[in-house]
Amino acid sequence: MKRICIIGISGKLGLYMAKHALAQGYEVTGLCRAQSAHKLDHLKGAIILFTGNTDDPDAVARAVAGCDGVLCVLVPWGVEGYATKTAQAVLDTADPDARLVFSCGWHISRDGKDRYPLKLRVFVALFGKLALWARFADLRDQVEATRRIFASNRRWTVVRGSNLEEGESEGLPIWARHVGDPVLASNLTRRTDFALFMVHALSDDRLIQEAPAIVGRNAASVRSNPERALVPQ
Ligand SMILES: NC(=O)c1ccc[n+]([C@@H]2O[C@H](COP(=O)([O-])OP(=O)(O)OC[C@H]3O[C@@H](n4cnc5c(N)ncnc54)[C@H](OP(=O)(O)O)[C@@H]3O)[C@@H](O)[C@H]2O)c1
Repeated sequence: MKRICIIGISGKLGLYMAKHALAQGYEVTGLCRAQSAHKLDHLKGAIILFTGNTDDPDAVARAVAGCDGVLCVLVPWGVEGYATKTAQAVLDTADPDARLVFSCGWHISRDGKDRYPLKLRVFVALFGKLALWARFADLRDQVEATRRIFASNRRWTVVRGSNLEEGESEGLPIWARHVGDPVLASNLTRRTDFALFMVHALSDDRLIQEAPAIVGRNAASVRSNPERALVPQ
């Protein structure tokens, strides 16, 4: 795999993914909103940038054409079904054999077997209601986006991020199939390492049609439960 596309390349996660993908020798194409293109000025000449809304199927089709892999940020903001439209556009327009890697949060459950800590359940319930009331975000959007991804027979991976923090890379995060696994209890990952895991998933066939929930590899919960940690290779 040589050429990849990052949908949502101008965001914090997108910029980290671009940095890691370039460092790993990928040819990088990206799509971002026109008003955000300036955030990629430092990568002029290193990437091919398309501008357009990342939920616009025509813009997505132009950006992903000829790419062997797509790293897609499922935008958590707004109440217009932005993440769902983005996911559908990628599913519809990416090359048939392309590896498709999507980002979302722990609150997404593929099979209903995740067990969420009370604190997280309360936060999701309160934030969900408040965000919808303020028309700031609709948590149901990522749920619908990922439902469509899980139902597709594409070569997808849905990476479920824990709480994030800035800081130097600690290396590839650890993953587990279900939230509630004690290895994930620390619920914290460096944002740069979330991006590193997304890029890694492009070439790790064991992650095809998996929805790994990730946590930083130096987290206390990983040190206490080393036997439970699924280590990407
Ligand atoms: N933040 C967390 O703690 C956390 C935790 C777990 C998982 N995640 C997941 O990580 C991914 C990235 O999240 P992030 O919080 O770190 O944000 P981020 O990387 O900054 O990405 C936000 C993205 O949303 C776009 N965006 C922002 N407002 C928008 C709007 N009104 N309409 C359309 N697009 C808009 C941004 O594009 P522009 O550059 O054009 O503004 C950017 O591409 C998401 O999939 C999220 O679910 C985040």
